[in-house]
Amino acid sequence: MEIHVIADPQELGALAASHVVAAIERNSQAVIGLATGSTPLPLYRAWAASVAESKLDVSQVRGFALDEYAGISPEHPESYRSVITNEVVIPVGLTPEFVRVPPSSATDADAAEYDNAIKAAGGIDLQILGIGRNGHLGFNEPGTAFDSRTHRISLTPETIEDNARFFDSVEEVPTEAITQGLGTILDSRIALVIATGESKAAAVAAAITGEVTTDMPASILQRHPNVIWCLDTAAASQLPAELIGA
Ligand code: F6R
Repeated sequence: MEIHVIADPQELGALAASHVVAAIERNSQAVIGLATGSTPLPLYRAWAASVAESKLDVSQVRGFALDEYAGISPEHPESYRSVITNEVVIPVGLTPEFVRVPPSSATDADAAEYDNAIKAAGGIDLQILGIGRNGHLGFNEPGTAFDSRTHRISLTPETIEDNARFFDSVEEVPTEAITQGLGTILDSRIALVIATGESKAAAVAAAITGEVTTDMPASILQRHPNVIWCLDTAAASQLPAELIGA
């Protein structure tokens, strides 16, 4: 496990992006797991800038989004399909047909097919992750089984409230989602977790130093062989000093 603590959000994004770029330099057909939410946006901007500067060929890169709201129209500006297209596919220059988002129809068959598609692509080389205040990864809320595969899930009131900022009102936030499972995420070869802000500090500390328990989904990362944590100072503030070289 590596832990990087960097105060400046842009620098943090650049560091995180350097790991994604390195994965593509190792394998031009790298399979990248893509998170939505606010936290990875500086990474996506830095990744796009790096591709533009270095002329890195990303045309063969495969992408699999972590999750999608159930029942949302893919054309809705806050569907994760729209967000991944507008924040990642277009700016980075990925090939749209190679980037998948779980379908919002979110049936059991959709979920199984999505998990199989990840396997058929060779598995995820590098999974970009944010973390919820309650420790969720993807939309795997507390209580989700560690061996879960892609599945439909009900969002907790806390997550619905957190995501209301993207919608006109809290009533518009979908209450269900389809998400890669914790088992799917654990299968990734590298897990790149980004967390910023004081509101994530408790979850980050619990995930890294606490008991491995389904009450704290991100604690499963203690069982992952290759995790890179990219934290700002506030998100790292509840970690023991010896872990962050402070
Ligand atoms: C996003 C996702 C979520 C977010 C988490 C943090 O695809 O699956 O787990 O990573 O809710 O969201 P932000 O970054 O908006 O704080």
